[in-house]
Amino acid sequence: MTNQQPTKIYLKDYTPPSFDVTKVDLDIQLFDEYATVYSKLLMHRRYDGKLVLLGRSLELQSICVNGKSLSADEYTLDDESLTLHDAADELTIETVVRITPQTNTTLEGLYQSGQGDELMFVTQCEPEGFRKITYFPDRPDVLTEYTTRLEAPKRFKTLLANGNLIESGDVGDDRHFTIWHDPTKKPSYLFAAVIANLEVLSDSYTTIEGRDVLLEVYASAHDIDKCHVGMQALKDAMKWDEDNYGRAYDLDRYMIVATSQFNMGAMENKGLNIFNTSCVLSSPETTSDERSFNVKSVIAHEYFHNWTGNRITCRDWFQLCLKEGFTVFRDQSFSGDFRSKAVQRIEDVALLRSAQFAEDAGTLAHPVRPESFVEINNFYTMTIYEKGAEIVRMLANLLGKEKFRQGTDEYFRRYDGMAVTVEDFLSALSVADERVSLFMPWYRQPGTPVLSGSSRIDGDTVVVSLAQVTRHVPNYDAPIALPIPVDTAIFDSVTGEMLASQMLLLTKDQDEFVFDGIQLSDGAHPVVSVLRNFSAPVKLDFNYTDEDLARLVAFETEGFNQWQALQTLVNRWLFGNSDDAAILTDALKTAVTKLKDTDPMLAARLFDLPSEKELAMAYDTDYDPVAVKARRDKLKALIAQALSDVVSDWYASLGNEVYADTPDARGRRLLKNVLLDLSLTAGVDGADALAYEQYKNASCMSERLGALIAIIHHNLEQKQTFIDDFYSRFSDEDLVIDTWLAAQTSASHTSIDEIAGLMARDDFDWNTPNRVRAVLSTLAAKPVQLWSEAGVALCLSAVERLDGSNPLMAARLLTALARWQTLSSEPKVVIKQKLESLQTKAKSKNVLEFLGNMLNG
Ligand code: ARG
Ligand code: ZN
Repeated sequence: MTNQQPTKIYLKDYTPPSFDVTKVDLDIQLFDEYATVYSKLLMHRRYDGKLVLLGRSLELQSICVNGKSLSADEYTLDDESLTLHDAADELTIETVVRITPQTNTTLEGLYQSGQGDELMFVTQCEPEGFRKITYFPDRPDVLTEYTTRLEAPKRFKTLLANGNLIESGDVGDDRHFTIWHDPTKKPSYLFAAVIANLEVLSDSYTTIEGRDVLLEVYASAHDIDKCHVGMQALKDAMKWDEDNYGRAYDLDRYMIVATSQFNMGAMENKGLNIFNTSCVLSSPETTSDERSFNVKSVIAHEYFHNWTGNRITCRDWFQLCLKEGFTVFRDQSFSGDFRSKAVQRIEDVALLRSAQFAEDAGTLAHPVRPESFVEINNFYTMTIYEKGAEIVRMLANLLGKEKFRQGTDEYFRRYDGMAVTVEDFLSALSVADERVSLFMPWYRQPGTPVLSGSSRIDGDTVVVSLAQVTRHVPNYDAPIALPIPVDTAIFDSVTGEMLASQMLLLTKDQDEFVFDGIQLSDGAHPVVSVLRNFSAPVKLDFNYTDEDLARLVAFETEGFNQWQALQTLVNRWLFGNSDDAAILTDALKTAVTKLKDTDPMLAARLFDLPSEKELAMAYDTDYDPVAVKARRDKLKALIAQALSDVVSDWYASLGNEVYADTPDARGRRLLKNVLLDLSLTAGVDGADALAYEQYKNASCMSERLGALIAIIHHNLEQKQTFIDDFYSRFSDEDLVIDTWLAAQTSASHTSIDEIAGLMARDDFDWNTPNRVRAVLSTLAAKPVQLWSEAGVALCLSAVERLDGSNPLMAARLLTALARWQTLSSEPKVVIKQKLESLQTKAKSKNVLEFLGNMLNG
């Protein structure tokens, strides 16, 4: 069975299902060692063709068609499907299967999560988990109405499924049941069930249409007091979708369940979202500001799926970006309304650059809408999600608020209740502006375009020239020119006044854009600022002078490009040979002085240096992680030096505040942590003591964690005391222990041996993705160690170990090594051998598909 060439599925082969499912009745009965699933499907023929039900790891106990038990020669059964030999046009199929959620470590289908008091059973059906529960046409274009009965021992007091609760009661033998009916037709990937023993936080929301909705967040007794942030986020999201897209919620009940073992962030199951604890629990004592804000975004993301994903769903999994790209764009817009918009954009772009651009530049590059795949779970990627969101953002910006709304209204009107494609989405939006159709190639073409440009002046005319190139990704057509919106402004170099601004649209390989009648002040020249607010997901190379970049730091009114101007100076320094950083540090100091009181979060972000991972992207060959880190460290030291006379005062001026959960307070806490780190880097007298004090007097996790990270990263003398103190304070908070592991792993002085030591601890649990990620995803962000022979070996041994128990996780960890071919030849030879050796041992489609791409790409 090993090392077979896994089968590829192609978008061009799509055919509609031959049967509809009119209704389904499910009955899931949980016992100590297994569960029995009874299902009754009403099916109706739409096209010629066989009746095929999909099923995996199911033990079929009986099958009846129209009340008559089938004999073995009336159907064919294999590992993946059940085919009826002779199907009438109208029929009822009843199956009984046995499954073992107790031993299901894949975290797909129905599986066990947690232990002891917190033992529970939850489902994850997207994309193809439903077939691990029962035989079904498990594909997103089969929509049907579900009635679900759950039966379990009474020690599991919580029995939840999608929709409305219509009945509950006892069945004797210390067992009980509930029956749920979901009135909306949905694809099987949105099915959910929960069998658990949870507490609930309840609230309500009245929609703009007047519907009273019961809101419930379920968590363990230990965690239920950490659900208030999530509940507020849910109400904010419901209101926001009404205000911004005219979309109201459509059921009487909305439930969120927190579970500790989950492969991804959260899942938008209709009316019953299931969340990784890390994306729903939040309290000031245990959750950093960053994590807490992430909770808000993810809650909103899953809520927004109710319209973009659930009511209008995907025809097939090639269209995944249809729901994910649009929904990420919606959650980013929402989040930007709850803090500094510039900071929101900075964070989204930083993620795009460090993770998606890397994906697009490596062996796993793929289009936002892929045309083939082996394992769909491998396509929940940065490209589908983040680049997918960027395409929708370009459209939204190009159309402007009103037209974009007109387009999305048309999308919801036309396709509500249907399973559709990216083409359908663009066709609905194009009622507002026909240029929308130009954007289809963005979905088809992999690779990040490089946009280069220059400006020149001619009398009172400014000419901006732009050109684009995209790398030719192997196995794809030669790249073509894409429509690239370039938001551009022109400033007066002396007064800083904005003289013109316009959204340019580059549609060809190269073009020129003319701004007439530019009136400059005496002795001034025009300063052009392009790609404001990062108006397209491209790499930019513009002929700014360093002096003009410093001017943009000072007077660009758009926060993102102000930050970007500094980042461009930073990048020029990092890839140049000069050791003089004065122009950069002066611009930084001036800007922070101005901003630290008005927008402390943006001020903190101005200190950003591109991550080591992002810097790695500049190399297609002979990448040397040690040299890259050394140059980056040097710049950080220069910045710290240049600001050493003010950092202590700035830090002191931020003081010790009482905890508040406002954008401003969060900004000050972030700035404080940045300044603490800088003081330690500069070796400012007494900085060690400041770190210890901040830890001891912390009003919340952000302050405590900021101090702990500084203490660990700078290897301060009392480091171990604080590591131990933190552990004992939070030893019964799993998510905080994850953070504690990550804080230690992330320090550049933490060796692979020490990391392996953390993984050998008793509380390191390979079946809990959060725990595994706390160490291994953190290692993935430390190129120097990751690419050492021991680092690669550690990473690959984890992949091998997880390949059998949780292939989805295994494949995700493997992506850390996707750009191995950019290293110099010596390490490359070793890594290639290791990858090839894994290829002979790996079993899962997930890992084999990626290994195939990594070795052939
Ligand atoms: N649709 C979910 C979200 O982005 C992702 C869940 C996918 N889960 C998985 N196991 N592939 O909101
Ligand atoms: Zn999503």
